[in-house]
Amino acid sequence: MAILEVSQLRQHFYLNPGILARMLSGKRTGVIKAVDGVNFQMEPGEILGLAGESGCGKSTLSLAVAKLREPTSGAILYKGKDLSEMNRAELKDYRRQVQLIFQDPYESLNPRFTVFDLVAEPLRALDMGDRHEIRERVIRTLELVGIRPDEYLERYPHQMSGGERQRVGIAQAMVLEPELVIADEPLSMLDVSIRAGILDLIRDLSERLHFSCIYISHDLSILSNISDRLMIMYLGRIMELGKSRDVISDPLHPYAQALISAVPIPDPAYRRPTPKIHGEVSQPIDPPPGCRFQNRCLEVMDVCKKDEPELKEIKDGHFGACHLYSSTKST
Ligand SMILES: Nc1ncnc2c1ncn2[C@@H]1O[C@H](COP(=O)(O)OP(=O)(O)OP(=O)(O)O)[C@@H](O)[C@H]1O
Ligand SMILES: [Mg+2]
Repeated sequence: MAILEVSQLRQHFYLNPGILARMLSGKRTGVIKAVDGVNFQMEPGEILGLAGESGCGKSTLSLAVAKLREPTSGAILYKGKDLSEMNRAELKDYRRQVQLIFQDPYESLNPRFTVFDLVAEPLRALDMGDRHEIRERVIRTLELVGIRPDEYLERYPHQMSGGERQRVGIAQAMVLEPELVIADEPLSMLDVSIRAGILDLIRDLSERLHFSCIYISHDLSILSNISDRLMIMYLGRIMELGKSRDVISDPLHPYAQALISAVPIPDPAYRRPTPKIHGEVSQPIDPPPGCRFQNRCLEVMDVCKKDEPELKEIKDGHFGACHLYSSTKST
């Protein structure tokens, strides 16, 4: 059974423009469709990479999955159970089983807490164990993430490097022995020299502890390295989903093709194809009918301006949302 099943998920934000803007545009409000009809499933133990330009809805999607925000509509099923139908005990268990690793360890760690208190906090909040058990689990978890407890237990966040802080952030998630981890750009605030170590740590932990992971990044070379499958979003919609090697070697959607053609290749003799894309990413505010990528797509057809393409299986396990591939069955 799938560990996670997301169907027709929407997260809309309603803008309240000032009086002048309202008079000029003649509109009362605008809607940011940050996530707008997203469908996907995850298998247990899978690492699903999530990519897409800034503002396409990656963090909004992850906050809805972590139930840190109520979606506007749609359903999220965890091990077959709808989140909106969970009782208190089931929700408490969900809060333990699903953990986030944040982008910015400077912001996410309370500066007044020691390392011990930071890692013990989630256990205390969910009432998991007495003082002795909590201490044991904190020490075990710090060792797991490569932080020496004897040296670091009483340190504060400002007494550590960025990489050490991120390891403590990872320990906060791991101490609850999660089954689904959402890592939202966990490397992007870190110095380039320490990124590989943290990436190895996350991959190693996912293998040893068997959790499933949604790994969000702008960096497709990182994603192709760590994820089993890759999902590409554009303005609130999934444009492509498939095994990482299929998406990287044979992208179907013109947007995925453009993103992948921008990945650096360490071969000076390699001549890369011209990216099939133009213009800048727009905002998901009151999107026009049809495909959201139509303004930037060099392969745009009449149908793209009328009908929104559904995500369909185009090749074995490789899905795309594009009218270039018609007459295939939808998900
Ligand atoms: N609380 C909010 N209120 C209004 N708009 C929001 C809110 N949160 C996000 N948005 C908007 O929703 C869209 C998606 O934002 P989101 O943060 O999910 O993108 P992202 O893909 O995570 O981007 P990045 O790569 O920069 O982290 C953006 O247009 C953003 O401005
Ligand atoms: Mg984000």
